[in-house]
Amino acid sequence: MSSVVQRLAELAEFGKYEYGINRGLATPQERKARELFVKWASESAYQLTQDPIGNLFARRNGSDPAAAPILVGSHLDTVPTGGAYDGAYGVVAALCALEQLDSEGVETRHPVEAVAWVGEEGSRFSIGCLGSAVFARLTSLDEAYALRDESGVTLADALASPDGGLLDLPQRSEQRVAAYLELHVEQGPVLEAAGVHLGVVSAITGQIRYRAVVEGMSGHAGTVPMDRRADALSAASEIVLAMEEAAREAGGAVVTVGRLVVEPGGTNVIPARVSFSIDNRSPDVSKMEAIEAAFHATAEKVTKERGVRVMLEKLDVHKPTPMNEELRAALHRVCEAMGQQAPDVPSGAGHDAMCIAKIAPAAMLFVPSIGGHSHVGQERTADADLELGVAALARAIEEVDK
Ligand code: GLV
Ligand code: MN
Ligand code: MN
Repeated sequence: MSSVVQRLAELAEFGKYEYGINRGLATPQERKARELFVKWASESAYQLTQDPIGNLFARRNGSDPAAAPILVGSHLDTVPTGGAYDGAYGVVAALCALEQLDSEGVETRHPVEAVAWVGEEGSRFSIGCLGSAVFARLTSLDEAYALRDESGVTLADALASPDGGLLDLPQRSEQRVAAYLELHVEQGPVLEAAGVHLGVVSAITGQIRYRAVVEGMSGHAGTVPMDRRADALSAASEIVLAMEEAAREAGGAVVTVGRLVVEPGGTNVIPARVSFSIDNRSPDVSKMEAIEAAFHATAEKVTKERGVRVMLEKLDVHKPTPMNEELRAALHRVCEAMGQQAPDVPSGAGHDAMCIAKIAPAAMLFVPSIGGHSHVGQERTADADLELGVAALARAIEEVDK
């Protein structure tokens, strides 16, 4: 087994359960993944540093010690039902690409660092791309530390705990980035359908995350007549369906309510309070606005007609992010030199590259996802494609170093 395939299988043991992998930020399982990254990087004698939010950097020196580093990486955390490749692949592939440069005796001018960003999924602490957002100073460290998970634990406390917390490593001071490359599984069906093995990301979709709350009035499920109710779940359902309709009408937009909590939660008790997540995405900002407008219009309607109260909090906003033209051209040259067709593909998933793109040239390369499955346990990519991606990444580092 090649080292990329073998290492992904090892990482997949952390957080594995019947529906996939559950490796939320600063949990014991996610910390084990970070520890394994450190073990592998140390075996290759790369210099490790950690920043105050837990991002890990494994540095392969270049010939010019004063040059800013090229960063190459992705994330090790997963959604609650994650697969073995989303994020983990880009981190492991970065290490494998550095090792490939070692074995070929390639000397780069820039230092090159394999990076493991923390908290990309935003599954435990609601804000996505947290580690890269803090690194790029889009989110302050204080704001990040104050975030709370569902059980009220702050990120500061989670990072201070010996179970899921920071590792014992030298603190990172370097803030410069010469360029950023991220290799990722596509997580959709386009490359497989096109019969190609690599894709160059053109742009990353825009994405807004919100938390919504609908408050109504609780009561006895048997005695309160239908016309005297303020059922929070019925009102929330109208809002959810209105947003779905707006996304369909807009075309090229998607909206998802993936978490919904009904309180007090009795089978014979009218729902008093419903809180739910909203994930609103489109490459076109006006379409995300149309979905948000549908939320507000329906909130107004149910407030009037059903006597509920509706609140909306915006948690996280990422505008559509085009990838750097020069880096994309470099990735195309690399793929062509390897005899691989690599079409331009947009990314409907969010990535750390969208944060790093705010402070440095950034680009992404995709390998196909079998059946397009992702954020589910059956996420797969062919071993040969995983290996091809590593080889392309090594060549891309060389090309970008020039
Ligand atoms: C991350 O995978 C996201 O797109 O939400
Ligand atoms: Mn990912
Ligand atoms: Mn993901």
